[in-house]
Amino acid sequence: MQIIYNLESPIGIFDSGIGGLTVAHAISQLLPQESIVYFGDTAHLPYGDKSEASIQAYSIKIADVLLKKGCKVIVIACNSASSAAYELLKEYVRKDAKIINVIDPMVQLVTSQFAGKKIGLIGTKRTIQSGVYTKKIKDANKNISLSALPTPLLVPMIEEGFFNNKISHEILEKYLTDSSLKTIDALILGCTHYPLIKNEISSFYSHNITLLDSSEVVAQALKDYLTSNGLLSNTTSPIHQFLVSDYTDSFEASTRIFFRKEVHLQKHPLWN
Ligand code: DGL
Repeated sequence: MQIIYNLESPIGIFDSGIGGLTVAHAISQLLPQESIVYFGDTAHLPYGDKSEASIQAYSIKIADVLLKKGCKVIVIACNSASSAAYELLKEYVRKDAKIINVIDPMVQLVTSQFAGKKIGLIGTKRTIQSGVYTKKIKDANKNISLSALPTPLLVPMIEEGFFNNKISHEILEKYLTDSSLKTIDALILGCTHYPLIKNEISSFYSHNITLLDSSEVVAQALKDYLTSNGLLSNTTSPIHQFLVSDYTDSFEASTRIFFRKEVHLQKHPLWN
C-alpha cells in the first residue's frame, strides 16, 4: 500500500483502549497544530494480559486503519503493544509511515540521564515479561540496574476510577513496597494509564523520587522527529478524531479523565 501524506496529514495514535489518551493529550499540548486520529481497541482491552501473537494481530489491523486515514506517523501509545508488536509493525508499515513506540524514547532518556543508577519499572504483565526495557537498557551499557515489577491491578483500578482513595493507596503501597523497588533513584511509569496516578505515586515517595512519565517523553520524541524531517503541520484548524472498536457510554465518559476533557468516541467496525 503506497500512501501519500503531506504536512497536514494526521498523527495516528493507538492503544488497547483509552489509556493512550494520556499520550494523545500530551501530544495535543506540545503540538497543538497537529491533527490526530486516535484508535482505542476497546474490544480487546486489556492488552496487558494478552499473548504476543494476539497483540501483533490486533496492531497490524489497527495500523491498516491508520494508514488508510493517511497518517504520517503512527504512535503506539501502549507499552504492552510497543513491547509485543513494534518490530513487526515497523517491518509491515515500512516507508508508508514512521512508527514511534513508547519504550525507545524512555530508554533513551534513562540511558542518557541515569548512568550508574538504580531504576524501577512498573507495567503490565505483558510489558514486564517481554523484557524489552531490561534488554534495551542493558544494551546501552550504562551500568544501570533495572528492577521491573508487574503491577497488573493498576489498569483495572484506574479504569474503574479508583485513584486518590483508600483502595488505590493500599494497592499502590503493596506494589511499591516490594523489595525489588527498594532504594531506586527513579521509577519508569511503564504503562500509559499510569500518568493518572502519578501524583499518588509521587506522594508515596514523599515527592523524593523522579517519576518518568512516557506520555511527555513520547510527545517530545514525536516533535523532534517531525521537526528534523520537516513534517510539522502548519494548519490553524487541526481535526481530532477518536475511534474505538467497541463503544460504551462509560468509555466516552472516561475520556474526560484521560484526555482532560470529554471527547466524542466513534465506533469503528474493524472487528465486525
Ligand atoms: N495502556 C496499556 C499499556 O501501556 C495498558 C492497558 C492494557 O493492559 O491494555 O501497556
